[in-house]
Amino acid sequence: MRANVPDIKYLFEPRSVAVIGASQDTTKLGFHVTDNIVSGGYQGSVYPINPRGGEICGRRAYKSIEDVDDEVDLVSIVVPAKFVYEAVQSCARKKAKFVSIITSGFAEVGNVEEEQKIVACARENGMRIQGPNIFGIYSCVSSLNATFSSGSPEPGSVAIITQSGALGLGMIGKTAIEHLGLSCIVSVGNKSDLDEADLLEYLIPQEQTKLIFMYIEGVQNGEKLIRVLSAATREKPVIVLKSGRSERGAIAAASHTGSLAGSDDVFDAIMRQCGVLRAECVKEGFDWCKFIANSPAPAGENTVIITNGGGIGVMATDASEKYSVSLYDDAAVLKEAFTAVTPDFGSTKNPVDITGQAGPKEYNLSLDTALKHPDMHAVMSLYCETAVFDAESLYTMIKENARKYRAGQKPLVFAAFGGRKSEDCIARCREQSIPVFNDVYEAVSCMGALYRYNKYRTNTSDSAASAKLDIPAIEAIARRAVQQNRFFLLANEAQTIMKIAGVEIPRSSVARNLDEAVRCSEDIGYPVVMKVVSKDIIHKSDAGGVALDLENRNEVIDAYQAIMHNCKAHNPSAFIEGVEIAEMVKPGTELIIGARRDATFGPIVMVGLGGIYVEVMKDVTFRSFPLDRREVMNMIKEIRSYPLLLGVRGEEKKDIDGVADMIIESC
Ligand code: COA
Repeated sequence: MRANVPDIKYLFEPRSVAVIGASQDTTKLGFHVTDNIVSGGYQGSVYPINPRGGEICGRRAYKSIEDVDDEVDLVSIVVPAKFVYEAVQSCARKKAKFVSIITSGFAEVGNVEEEQKIVACARENGMRIQGPNIFGIYSCVSSLNATFSSGSPEPGSVAIITQSGALGLGMIGKTAIEHLGLSCIVSVGNKSDLDEADLLEYLIPQEQTKLIFMYIEGVQNGEKLIRVLSAATREKPVIVLKSGRSERGAIAAASHTGSLAGSDDVFDAIMRQCGVLRAECVKEGFDWCKFIANSPAPAGENTVIITNGGGIGVMATDASEKYSVSLYDDAAVLKEAFTAVTPDFGSTKNPVDITGQAGPKEYNLSLDTALKHPDMHAVMSLYCETAVFDAESLYTMIKENARKYRAGQKPLVFAAFGGRKSEDCIARCREQSIPVFNDVYEAVSCMGALYRYNKYRTNTSDSAASAKLDIPAIEAIARRAVQQNRFFLLANEAQTIMKIAGVEIPRSSVARNLDEAVRCSEDIGYPVVMKVVSKDIIHKSDAGGVALDLENRNEVIDAYQAIMHNCKAHNPSAFIEGVEIAEMVKPGTELIIGARRDATFGPIVMVGLGGIYVEVMKDVTFRSFPLDRREVMNMIKEIRSYPLLLGVRGEEKKDIDGVADMIIESC
């Protein structure tokens, strides 16, 4: 039973906070949580709760939350696991809104029952639970740091939701030294009640949050997450770091937060479908956060590399291919634009090599040219350390151009490679959120992430294509099979379903005897295929129940007799309904389309290279239903074998639109 749930706003913007387990003992978490709230500048009321009463962190401590003569929006619980249920009951009597359970020792160690008891109590009383097994919550809008972090987060525009508490605490420290300002950081831990999707509901419209970063180990309610993530990415970029990718990693995730990691391929594809950027590691995720949160959106796809070194330019070109950054290649335009700043021994082709003798003047001129040029939409500026720049002029050049590009609404990223001078410059720039990297690949990876998000944003449409299917007719066929204790469909049943779904299949019909087999073959036209139809024979070729490429009446008669003989020998008690005669299709490129109900994400569709090597090649990709035509095309383009569909070595292009239609029609 769920009583009315409180507005999620009161978790992030509570008017009053109590800490059950507050302590004067500076070695205890209960002290640090209370101290962080008080010293972090939280303006609401703070109520430390401790059986001894007295004073904690300069605030009056109450022996019980029920003694507090005020409404309590948020309660942080920091007492051992065996006392938590009792504490939650007292919160319920007090009619608190949110309970943030920092304590460990629940589902993650198998203590599932106790966790469920706590959630049931919360649900009956209209409370919501954050955690357990978390570090708490920091929310910038209310200057609330209800965590036991060792330092304070820097205020800013990135929201972090993390399933791992300890990693989250580390992120608080790391974001501070990286000058990655946070609008909030929240830990979801075991997700007994509140999960990422609930928190996103608050963060999507929240003005201060410009970008959301999530660390996930496992997803419980995938369908809800898909819905909320798709809504979130229409408003702001979302970056996800998901661990438990490997088999061993998944086992580790299960014992850490009790999460089931699920199939990584499905997760990966669904994140792409939702427009979520998936980072490989924390560093990459944070680099993207800093760059994307501070970068204008590109107006087009033409990116220009400006470099003083050939090698670094070639590396950036490779990286551009890896991260799908399109390089502008109109040689005539590039020549006209950059000839004035490029010596004869340089190159005006992209990468534009202004050579090792380029100093601040050449960089400024070429960057100005690209900024003003309407066909150049983004710039990656590379620098290898030379004596031509002194430290100060390098810093000034980067800072000034970053400012101009921001004002001109054009994305710009720098990579500076060298010794002390470059490293010091990078450190100074990063303090001011100027995107400079010492590694070319990191710089290009940021530009690639910006493009991916931008492309998703500009191409996304709300309408999911769907065909009108006669669902009751399909259900009737499935019901009949179940009534007959079958968990598979006979060929003719499957074909009927295909027809209802509008999926074109080879012409076929079922013949009950030899005469019918000959008649059907002649109706369909030679060559034909013959297959046994029997509910008792599932693997037809193993039973000798299939004959291919039958060219004439005599071959049909021989095949019919051979199939009857083989199948009876294979299973003497098999009930044979007859044979299916089907058109023999010409060889082509085989694709596989499948659909299933995923335990985490609900209905999902798969497309990939088919045929006998499907298991070995694993060239398949997934999407969640429903999906629109654009997404279906993205899906088809994603498989490695896509070039085969375009036709290789003079082959004709395959009917890709037909494949897309089939996926949409059978949705
Ligand atoms: N109401 C109010 N205060 C209570 C209480 C109750 N029902 N029961 C106990 N307390 C008080 C204790 O008296 C103590 O205060 P004191 O120092 O004045 O004596 C304080 O609460 C803490 O209780 P204590 O028994 O000392 O627990 P602890 O601090 O050793 O451990 C946890 C409590 C929550 C820290 C510990 O059980 C735990 O779960 N640690 C792991 C936390 C974690 O890693 N979380 C995940 C983060 S990523």
